[in-house]
Amino acid sequence: MKITNPLRPGNATLTVKVNEQHCQGHARCKAIAPELFEFDEFGYARVIRHGTVPSELNKKARLAEANCPEGAIEIFKRGEVFA
Ligand code: F3S
Repeated sequence: MKITNPLRPGNATLTVKVNEQHCQGHARCKAIAPELFEFDEFGYARVIRHGTVPSELNKKARLAEANCPEGAIEIFKRGEVFA
């Protein structure tokens, strides 16, 4: 039986990023996906695990992106380059 570690980057197809210039600390991202986001010492969001999204968290990542009122969350597919 093959066991897959969901936290291994090889199991991920998406990467999430917080645009620090747009984040205003609304905290919806962490409420929706605490596995993907945490706060810095000022209350602004930052990603966990360099933004690697385990595949079972893809939906949460998309929800967080859709619910950030500042549009500060960006999602990239594997192979895409950060802007
Ligand atoms: Fe910032 Fe948006 Fe989250 S404003 S704290 S990235 S919901």
